[in-house]
Amino acid sequence: MGRRVLVTGGAGFIGSHVAAAYVEAGDEVTVLDDLSTGTIANVPRGARFVRADIRSPQARALLATGGFTLLNHHAAQVDVRISVADPVRDGDVNLLGLLNLLEGARAGGVRRVIFASSGGAIYVVDGRLPLGEAAAKLPLSPYGSAKLASEYYLATFAQLYGLASVVLRYSNVYGPRQKGTGEGGVVAVFAHRLAAGQPVTIFGDGLQTRDFVYVGDVAEANLLASEGHLRPLDELDSRAFNIGTGIETGVRELAEELAAALGRELEVRYQPARAGEVRRSAVAIDKAAAELGWRPRTGLREGLASTLHALTGAGSRRPEAETAVKHA
Ligand SMILES: NC(=O)c1ccc[n+]([C@@H]2O[C@H](COP(=O)([O-])OP(=O)(O)OC[C@H]3O[C@@H](n4cnc5c(N)ncnc54)[C@H](O)[C@@H]3O)[C@@H](O)[C@H]2O)c1
Repeated sequence: MGRRVLVTGGAGFIGSHVAAAYVEAGDEVTVLDDLSTGTIANVPRGARFVRADIRSPQARALLATGGFTLLNHHAAQVDVRISVADPVRDGDVNLLGLLNLLEGARAGGVRRVIFASSGGAIYVVDGRLPLGEAAAKLPLSPYGSAKLASEYYLATFAQLYGLASVVLRYSNVYGPRQKGTGEGGVVAVFAHRLAAGQPVTIFGDGLQTRDFVYVGDVAEANLLASEGHLRPLDELDSRAFNIGTGIETGVRELAEELAAALGRELEVRYQPARAGEVRRSAVAIDKAAAELGWRPRTGLREGLASTLHALTGAGSRRPEAETAVKHA
């Protein structure tokens, strides 16, 4: 498509799939990442790599002078528990880093920003599921507060400078190249333990639910959000889209699925529930379907098989699962 795209966090789990999707679509892709949790091996072939911190003058200058049309921002401090233990560190990366990039983007004439927000960390969870974009918001962690504040800053930059942005609020993302730290990290943690023949630890009774969405489907949502008409920015949620499945899966059920796919006996060790963890979680995706033309295409069983193959070398894998890029 000939766009010039800067993907921050493109050496990480989700960002590397997003960068690969742009490369595959024919875009000129630069990945900016400080490799703090990401790895160079994740950067897709065909993308240029710049090692820099999103808070650095170098990152800002790159955006100001690089002729980019699109900024896709996935770099972040992603660990909710670190944000609770050290909110200054979280805000430094997740808020000041964003502002540094936005200052570069407006100077450089970037036309659109795509921002990776969270559907699991900003909404009030009151039992009514799945949650739509307009649901009440009251983050429980500094990580969630930084995501929500980032959305407000993006809306402000759109109004002040005409810098258009689209917010994608992900549920729990899983798939190849995932590590155990992110919001969907439980898949990777369970997979590694099961593959090693070890018991898995579940905090609480295992009946708590999450909305697991496959990373290839998330990459496709990013492509769709990168072009096309945007509705007027009337309020914070105007250009925000939940990206999930709307389906709740129990954590125990997830462990059972993984064990079955690996052909392993499941042994669970239960620990007390973690403080602050939500009981149930799922996001409504009607808005992304109606306005972006996006729907998740990968069922849990199929997605887990691809993930297991990539993480542990087990099971079967569809040919397209490695790059996880499909186009409508
Ligand atoms: N994984 C999920 O389920 C999930 C859910 C909701 C939102 N998100 C968001 O999606 C984005 C990607 O998350 P992920 O799960 O792929 O995590 P990840 O840790 O794999 O990727 C983050 C990347 O950002 C890089 N990075 C971190 N700090 C940086 C800095 N200061 N400067 C430059 N690069 C830096 C890391 O090296 C890494 O490559 C994040 O913004 C995260 O908050 C993830």
